[in-house]
Amino acid sequence: MQTLNLNGYALPILGLGTWKSAPGEVYTAVKEAIKIGYRHIDCAAIYGNEKEVGNAIKTCIEEGTVTRDELWVTSKLWNNMHGENNVAPAIQKTLSDLQLEYLDLYLIHWPVAQKKLFVGASKAQHFLSLEEQPIANTWKGMEKAVELGLTKTIGVSNFSVKKLKELIANSSIKPVLNQVELHPYFQQDELVDYCHTNNIHVMAYSPLGSSDRPEGLKAEDEPVLLEDKSIAALASKINASVAQTIIAWDIHRGISVIPKSVNPARLKQNFEAVEIKLSDTDMANIKKVNKDRRYVDGKFWVVPDGPYTIENLWDE
Ligand SMILES: NC(=O)c1ccc[n+]([C@@H]2O[C@H](COP(=O)([O-])OP(=O)(O)OC[C@H]3O[C@@H](n4cnc5c(N)ncnc54)[C@H](OP(=O)(O)O)[C@@H]3O)[C@@H](O)[C@H]2O)c1
Repeated sequence: MQTLNLNGYALPILGLGTWKSAPGEVYTAVKEAIKIGYRHIDCAAIYGNEKEVGNAIKTCIEEGTVTRDELWVTSKLWNNMHGENNVAPAIQKTLSDLQLEYLDLYLIHWPVAQKKLFVGASKAQHFLSLEEQPIANTWKGMEKAVELGLTKTIGVSNFSVKKLKELIANSSIKPVLNQVELHPYFQQDELVDYCHTNNIHVMAYSPLGSSDRPEGLKAEDEPVLLEDKSIAALASKINASVAQTIIAWDIHRGISVIPKSVNPARLKQNFEAVEIKLSDTDMANIKKVNKDRRYVDGKFWVVPDGPYTIENLWDE
């Protein structure tokens, strides 16, 4: 499989998402994925399933399906553990849950800070503004995690160009990657151009439109990406599914992609998308379906009198 070079480490361009994969099913899904050939698992402390993911990885290593060196494991720092001295304990907890000695990539999950006591945040007093808890301080903790050998590389998630520029100006180790929502309805050309020009890789989350998000995170009128007629026509022309066509489109843009599935047939189907070739015309046709439409819009960080607004979150 094609890989991306992250400071000398090879990230497989396709990985497995694990958000919403319930503890009872994620063990089987991760085991099945590794058996199929997936070598990148995208995790996060807040997904509440890292222990089960860790059990699956351990079983695969013990059974000889894969070695730790052959796997790429990503995880993310949750909002209530921002701050220089909180990062090492947070990553150590993740490593203990995953039963691993190191991560390959650790990301700041959101440019949003919460007080340590509040894992969930729904009121203004649960949050800290980025003036009170600057990203630059949290990043110092991320850099220490590399020095301590807890992770090979560090990056961010949900960062705008403005926030990336501020971070780069205040860092000794540059972020290697920005994981953001990205799919044909939200193509993110400007952000991708900035990242690629500045040697920052991009990883596409919710690449298939995240249709299994909780109802509370959905808008009433939202378009369903996997039902897009233009992509469906192209998919049938190339004898692929819509999901496969979208995954191939990411890969053709040099963007790593982490579709989530707990279904063995869909895990296999998504994995086989790495073989699909798209022509320049196919790519141009997918470009036309863009709607600049986020599914994970960040409105859940906006509370009355709180420090976060949609404008200061996305800098748009
Ligand atoms: N950094 C962040 O803030 C952030 C935010 C969101 C997501 N993420 C990461 O990105 C990963 C992927 O995003 P996501 O989970 O939001 O959504 P997604 O991968 O866009 O979509 C997942 C949904 O698509 C279905 N699906 C998977 N393969 C399919 C196929 N071939 N055909 C039809 N349906 C298919 C899945 O169902 P089945 O499971 O039943 O197959 C599930 O309902 C997450 O799991 C997480 O690891 C990160």
